[in-house]
Amino acid sequence: MTLAPPFRKLMLTAHITFSVGWLGAVAVFLALAVTGLTSHDPPLVRAAYLAMGLSGWFVIVPSSFAALLTGVVQALGTPWGLFKHYWVLVKLLLTVAATVLLLVHMQPISYLAEVAAKADLSSTELRGMRLRLIADAVAALVVLLAATTISVYKPWGRIGNWLERRNAPAQGAATPTSWGQYVLLGLLGLVVLFILMHLLGGGMGHH
Ligand code: HEM
Repeated sequence: MTLAPPFRKLMLTAHITFSVGWLGAVAVFLALAVTGLTSHDPPLVRAAYLAMGLSGWFVIVPSSFAALLTGVVQALGTPWGLFKHYWVLVKLLLTVAATVLLLVHMQPISYLAEVAAKADLSSTELRGMRLRLIADAVAALVVLLAATTISVYKPWGRIGNWLERRNAPAQGAATPTSWGQYVLLGLLGLVVLFILMHLLGGGMGHH
């Protein structure tokens, strides 16, 4: 399936809008999370957690699904393919991981918004959970910035080419291993480690 050029442009516009919009919404979320934890103004603290709940459900979650969906359509509808280039595959993995972790974290976000809707929060109340949301927002920003950078630089080449190079010694050719492949492996390892630590190390249990 190849998208007709005008439709490809339209989908690309939608894809960039949703994915980079997701990044912007997370930056606002981080500002609210820091305000919620550090402000000594009770109405402002309540407003911050209420806004986090609303922006999470009505902007961040829809943006994540829309970025994933439009990204997959772009990949399948253009010569880039879904499993042909490392940069597309890495973005797919990063986006799926970020979306799953986001859904897991919507639980404490909703809980804090519910508590804030009923009463003022003292600076010590639910402090661990509130701190954790700041750390999660920073982690999400790093992942989304990485996805944006990968989109623009499109590194690591084609998946098939790398496999061909690995098989090359049989024909006596040299095996160039670029630094980019180590970065790629490191990045994937970090993502897997992060998800495992998060889900097995009590992350779920605390939510
Ligand atoms: C939050 C995650 C994502 C961000 C921030 C992001 C960002 C971007 C940006 C800025 C571009 C434009 C690059 C350019 O035109 O030079 C782009 C293009 C593209 N993205 Fe994503 N993207 C994300 C997720 C995904 C996913 C999950 C996929 C599919 C697996 C994907 C597949 C593509 C493809 C194939 C293009 C090239 C489209 C074309 O040239 O027509 N993206 N992305």
